[in-house]
Amino acid sequence: MSVPCVAVARERGEAVRTRLAEAGVLNGDHRIEVIEDTIYLPVTDPAAVPLEYRDRIVEREPEPREGPRTPATLLGYEPSLERLGDIVILDEDDPERAHEIAEAVMASDIPCETVLNRASPIEGELRVREWDVLAGNGTETTHREYGHEFRLDLASVYFSPRLATDRHRVITQVHSGETVVDMFAGVGPYAIPMAARGADVIACDLNPVAVDYLTENAERNGVADRVTAIAGDVRELPAEYADVADRLVMNLPHSADEFLDTAVALAGESCVIHYYDIQHEDDPFGPGLAAIRQAVGDAYTVSVETERIVRSYAPHEHNVRLDVRLDRR
Ligand SMILES: C[S@@+](CC[C@H](N)C(=O)[O-])C[C@H]1O[C@@H](n2cnc3c(N)ncnc32)[C@H](O)[C@@H]1O
Repeated sequence: MSVPCVAVARERGEAVRTRLAEAGVLNGDHRIEVIEDTIYLPVTDPAAVPLEYRDRIVEREPEPREGPRTPATLLGYEPSLERLGDIVILDEDDPERAHEIAEAVMASDIPCETVLNRASPIEGELRVREWDVLAGNGTETTHREYGHEFRLDLASVYFSPRLATDRHRVITQVHSGETVVDMFAGVGPYAIPMAARGADVIACDLNPVAVDYLTENAERNGVADRVTAIAGDVRELPAEYADVADRLVMNLPHSADEFLDTAVALAGESCVIHYYDIQHEDDPFGPGLAAIRQAVGDAYTVSVETERIVRSYAPHEHNVRLDVRLDRR
């Protein structure tokens, strides 16, 4: 089948491909051919090819492309990407490379509205980061995880799709009828699936925007009647919710130890704490367990149910989870 192609010197191939992609005339249904020093870029409409390349259009018979167009096939290398709803997230230090990847993502078959690059570390009490918007214009999306939908705005709340597997391991421990307090709930990735398993969940977060999304997400997933969403400092919860929790989720890894007195005040007769921590690889669980024992004092017996390395956080540092059962003496 005869297909119009723009023929250019091989070394200019990437620049011209990008230009044609920007003009929206790159024909992704056919393979790009390289013959000796010339690269042939298939185009959809010769009349729409930018003027400077019009005299380079030739008819060729490139092979049809098999399979989906991925960023890797367009770039010639495998970029590191993370997907969150219809957002693709990059972590690139080099702005030129970041833009090149963003263009390839948008030109690929990945269903994507926005490409973001990390522009700061996760910072502050609310654990939010800044983003460079490389393509598209929104930071709000709807992410699906294990059958639940979460609406969120990455520019104003914390969310990490990387932790989905670990969340699922925690969530599947929940039994119907339990009372759970999710002390640092974000937009609800623990609270909502736990409520869907039949738990009554008190979900607290300091970030009012996260709590607005949490409320919306509880409705969206049909569990609003079992989720009590509270905006504010979790240290103020115990007055109303003392001794209620069968289960506590403590997902604030850098400073969870500062909230253990609150956790003990919220714990009922028998309570499992899912305690996230960041520690050195030499002793990933010891400091967390010692902090829990100290906060509990003589009030409860403490037994460890799970010690899990969730992921590597930094060189020699792990993000870990300790599941600990407290039984009142
Ligand atoms: C690491 S994020 C985890 C959010 C959620 N659990 C998730 O997995 O997406 C920690 C959350 O704790 C909240 N936070 C920080 N300090 C808090 C406090 N004193 N009381 C309640 N929430 C707090 C932040 O706003 C943030 O949303």
